[in-house]
Amino acid sequence: MTQEEFMAKLAEVKVCPVVVIDDVEDAVPLARALEAGKLPMAEVTFRTPAAADAIARIAKECPNVVVGAGTVIDREQCTRAIKAGAQFIVAPSFSDEVAQCAIGHGVAYCPGTCTPTDITNALRYNLPMVKFFPAGNYGGLKTIKSLASVFPQIKFMPTGGVNVDNVNEYLGFDKIISVGGTWVCKKDMVAAKDWDGITKLCQEAYDLTH
Ligand code: 3PG
Repeated sequence: MTQEEFMAKLAEVKVCPVVVIDDVEDAVPLARALEAGKLPMAEVTFRTPAAADAIARIAKECPNVVVGAGTVIDREQCTRAIKAGAQFIVAPSFSDEVAQCAIGHGVAYCPGTCTPTDITNALRYNLPMVKFFPAGNYGGLKTIKSLASVFPQIKFMPTGGVNVDNVNEYLGFDKIISVGGTWVCKKDMVAAKDWDGITKLCQEAYDLTH
């Protein structure tokens, strides 16, 4: 998926579910739960050994779900994610090798940033959007507004500490096209295979933001 396609999809869903999958068997039911809750997107974090297989399963069995990889911090992970079928790459940090790998494969890359220097690195690769992480800890919307004033060409996806109480505060700023978060698919709910509960949280987030 190109950067433009990814941004268009983010603008549509407004909330990108960040998911942690320990058991690959959970991948498809979880993706279906997100889709049923009108958030047909999953950022599958490369924090568990199941991540690449989970992406492959979702890519194969859930054609309406846009699946990507999160927490991608090096070339090896980026290559594995793309081979598995990741349509986008997200990270908590900026990495030259990940930028080169993703761009080389024509896959959208959204690096994590929280300082002007990080954003300048993203601009070296003409990236049009960045993740702002961890948003809550680094000053939230106030900091994003300061960064946006000097980087008017960049769009932001705040992640980290976003929830039902502050999501619309973030989305009210026009430089923010989407937020990311785990609150719509909490780890304990995945562990309990509470797919209906996850659908309900996604639907609530969708209703709140649309
Ligand atoms: C991430 O994995 O990108 C963040 O840890 C998500 O942060 P959250 O759990 O506060 O939504």
